[in-house]
Amino acid sequence: MQDDFQPVRAREALVRAFENAITCRDAIVIGRANGRVNLIGDHVDYAGGVVLPIATPETTSVAVAAVRGSNDCCTSEFVGDPSWERYARGVVAELRAGGINVPPIAIAVASDVPVGAGLSSSAALEIAVARAVLTLVGRAMSPAELALLAQRAEHVHAGVPCGIMDQWCVAHADPNAARHDAILLDCARQQHEVVALPETLRIEVIDSGVRHALRDGGYAARRRDVFEAAERLSRPVEELACASEREVASLPAQLARRARHVVTEVARVRAAVDALRRGDLVRFGQLLQESHASLRDDFDVSTPEVDRVVEQAMARGALGARMTGGGFGGCVVVAKAM
Ligand code: GLA
Repeated sequence: MQDDFQPVRAREALVRAFENAITCRDAIVIGRANGRVNLIGDHVDYAGGVVLPIATPETTSVAVAAVRGSNDCCTSEFVGDPSWERYARGVVAELRAGGINVPPIAIAVASDVPVGAGLSSSAALEIAVARAVLTLVGRAMSPAELALLAQRAEHVHAGVPCGIMDQWCVAHADPNAARHDAILLDCARQQHEVVALPETLRIEVIDSGVRHALRDGGYAARRRDVFEAAERLSRPVEELACASEREVASLPAQLARRARHVVTEVARVRAAVDALRRGDLVRFGQLLQESHASLRDDFDVSTPEVDRVVEQAMARGALGARMTGGGFGGCVVVAKAM
């Protein structure tokens, strides 16, 4: 992971992007936000489960300035996905819909959070845009309000029916902090507690190089399966994680696998937090392994390339390794003992 990409470089890139894009510029305001890596607990946030993400050192910087005229304008040093504009414009639209008087603005982005890699580049962008715009207009929002606004922007304007994990983790992280703790987030209650990682645990992130786009449909299809499984069991989706083995087995085969993932993954997150608090890194690693197997075999969201990265990390002595985030490519999170 890079550590030379810091606000100064981002600021230079952003100012350059502004100069190329707009002729009359006012004061430029910068907002910044971290990415996140989920240690364990994937594809359970939209089912009201518990998750254990941590903010990444990589950040996204967004510059905004009021412009003359009546239209917003987007310009970018953002590498990769050109659809970033939809996320940025979505956040601005949601701020305006919420009654915040945002003048026509220009937006520029610079980021070292890899796009489509399962590290929440979209949440980082959304929260950075919201922070910049709020500063520009002299308004403030709580991290929880920011997270919910960003999630709405993603649902409505980017068409991704995501859960709350990414936006919540990113909105509660301070991009100026030297280090971050993990958070245990209860997605149903929208409450979290901080979980400090043992000094002897080293977390690494390895990029498989395979890029996903959550909009491609696989994510929404898995989410639909989870909701259908809950409905067939006559349970609110937030209570699917409490289903018994017998209930799960009563479902059609594919839905049973999806439901089993949700039930077992939520239990693994709780066990992982318990292991971390006891300093039992071996158990923590095993739970990461089990989580990966469940996402691969029951939830069908891994890929052969990602599986290979996991296997290689284990062969090199990791305690545990698993895909992280929405899946269909992206990064692997690896736990090692120091
Ligand atoms: C994406 C979504 C999250 C979550 C993860 C899988 O990152 O944005 O809400 O569902 O996938 O855990």
